[in-house]
Amino acid sequence: MSIGLDAIAFHTTKYYVDLEDLADARGVAREKFTKGLGQKKMAIATPLEDTVHLAVNAGRKALSRFGISPGDIGTLVVGTETGVDHSKPVAVYVHQALGLSSDCITYETKHACFGATAALSSAGDWLVSGRARGRKALVIAADIACYGIHTPGEPTQGAGAVAMIVSDRPRLLEFIPDINYSFTKNVMDFWRPLYSKEAIADGHYSVQCYLQALASCLAGAAGMLPDTSRLAACLYHAPFTKMAAKAHLLYYGWCHNTTIERETSAYRHFFEDYQTRTKPWLTLNQEVGNIYTGSLFLSVIDLLRQKRLLPGQLISLFSYGSGCAASITCSKLASDYARWQTHLDPAEDLSARIRLSVHQYEKMKAETAGLSSDFRLNPSDYGMNGHYLYLGNKGHVRQYSDLNQSIRGEEVHYG
Ligand code: HMG
Repeated sequence: MSIGLDAIAFHTTKYYVDLEDLADARGVAREKFTKGLGQKKMAIATPLEDTVHLAVNAGRKALSRFGISPGDIGTLVVGTETGVDHSKPVAVYVHQALGLSSDCITYETKHACFGATAALSSAGDWLVSGRARGRKALVIAADIACYGIHTPGEPTQGAGAVAMIVSDRPRLLEFIPDINYSFTKNVMDFWRPLYSKEAIADGHYSVQCYLQALASCLAGAAGMLPDTSRLAACLYHAPFTKMAAKAHLLYYGWCHNTTIERETSAYRHFFEDYQTRTKPWLTLNQEVGNIYTGSLFLSVIDLLRQKRLLPGQLISLFSYGSGCAASITCSKLASDYARWQTHLDPAEDLSARIRLSVHQYEKMKAETAGLSSDFRLNPSDYGMNGHYLYLGNKGHVRQYSDLNQSIRGEEVHYG
């Protein structure tokens, strides 16, 4: 039985901050963010675009654009580290909003950015177990990456959701379960205490932990994992795109049994390899920023939408979640995958986004942080209309705009 991705879709926020504007406001060289981190923009969520909103909208796109009926979904898992309740899962809101059937198993997974990878693995196991009975699994990676103003993590924020439908007749990507290695170790590289809306990162240490986890996965997968030369693409969790370059340097060096130093001919060869196998699929990550659980899968969308690779070609996928958990695996492009390009390409949505000034972004961040207990949000104050907007709390119950009823309101610019 071949298990894999049958549908994929992305949803992000209406607003973004340009990282050159942020660099100017923070008094650092623009190149630090654009070249040093490899980022261009970061998606910024209004308070109305919470994790539920992002997940619902990505899920709706995946179902409708790929012609899948809600009744075909037998498992729904939302992988997130920015859930909206300590007890109630984001997934159950999504279940209702998408009109999934009451016998659909529904839950949330968490291990920092690894949550959706864990969910995909469980979805695959559910399909091979025989319990799916012809149905498919919907896995949604949804997050809002939020660090404090003036912290080193600030330029690596972002927000968005990637919805993936896993089936035993995958139209996009076939998973290769025989190539798989996982790694876990308790480290304090990045975390978010229950009382904090913002993540705390030991930034440079987190980069080391990520690379150590990758090194452990490579060592563990030796004998299973192909050399980069046999792969058409090597994709990595990308909190900022330069991280994927660091990761590919490690993988490439591992294949050549050496540590590669800069300014050497080996480095030039690595760089060519990186330009071919990793860099082309990082353009959406550069435009959106870190979306935690969905970051790796945003690169998958970028690869699928570009249609540059041939059916049957192999890609490697490295997933990392702080704390930490990691895995490496491979997938194969399905025979007809290129047919679905227009269904999954988010280019139009991205070009319709609105640029916030740094002042507007800081104001929005302060407003979101100040919300607590019962309150009511007015979508027109944020120039928002759309499906399943978070409208505040009433009697501690989260309120959402009706899925089938667009909020009336003028398209106004926030500020
Ligand atoms: P920093 O310390 O401010 O930056 O924050 P830096 O001084 O290390 O500079 C960054 C890069 O810019 C360096 O490049 C500089 O040389 C370069 P590198 O040496 O690394 O190749 N640079 C310049 N380049 C060109 N022109 C210039 C210039 N100036 C400097 N003028 C840090 C960097 C990553 C620490 C920070 O952004 C941070 O804390 N980010 C949050 C944590 C993070 O993203 N960690 C990544 C690994 S952990 C992970 O991926 C999990 C995560 O997604 C969470 C989860 O799992 O849920 C985060």
